[in-house]
Amino acid sequence: RARVVVMISGSGSNMVALAKAAAEPGFPAEIVGVISDKRAAGGLAKAEAVGLPTAALERRDFDSKAAHEAAVLETLERFAPDLICLAGYMRLLSGAFIQRYEGRILNIHPSLLPLYPGLHTHARAIEAGEAEAGCTVHFVTEGMDEGPAILQARVPVLPGDTPETLAARVLVEEHRIYPKALALVAEGAVRMPR
Ligand code: GAR
Repeated sequence: RARVVVMISGSGSNMVALAKAAAEPGFPAEIVGVISDKRAAGGLAKAEAVGLPTAALERRDFDSKAAHEAAVLETLERFAPDLICLAGYMRLLSGAFIQRYEGRILNIHPSLLPLYPGLHTHARAIEAGEAEAGCTVHFVTEGMDEGPAILQARVPVLPGDTPETLAARVLVEEHRIYPKALALVAEGAVRMPR
């Protein structure tokens, strides 16, 4: 089974979805650790509750972005991951980091990429009058939210939607497609195109 480290910054609901899927018999990957850049991330307690090893490294405890990332990388390497799943990890990785794990870093983004990379995706989709929104699991490349898509799911934008109601509808789909996408990559059915 592929060894997977999940990286989070927040509530960790996608991490929990991945951990639940990985606990099923026959799933081709196992979660071996969870790394957060926020000690207060709600996801850390959730990971500990299901017995996953965790590590938290705050940017402010390091002198520079580079020093912080070097410490994250060192922590990551101790888990000896085959794959890395970014799950609400709200920090850009350097080119060197991404090259180190080329084709082995997945991310979930709450929009139908290439539409709405970056932040506030749901507010922007509502503002633009989109009829549909959704989420994308993709391979991470150096451009933010730009790598090749692995799976997408769509939901309708409904009259009266707020960013919060739309986010909740999309999140249900995130929890469904992220484990599927991880399984596809872990079993070698999908590879990063080169
Ligand atoms: C998810 O909606 C994820 O798609 C989004 O953050 C949320 C994390 O929730 N990620 C991004 O916006 C990345 N640019 P979670 O911590 O409950 O999984």
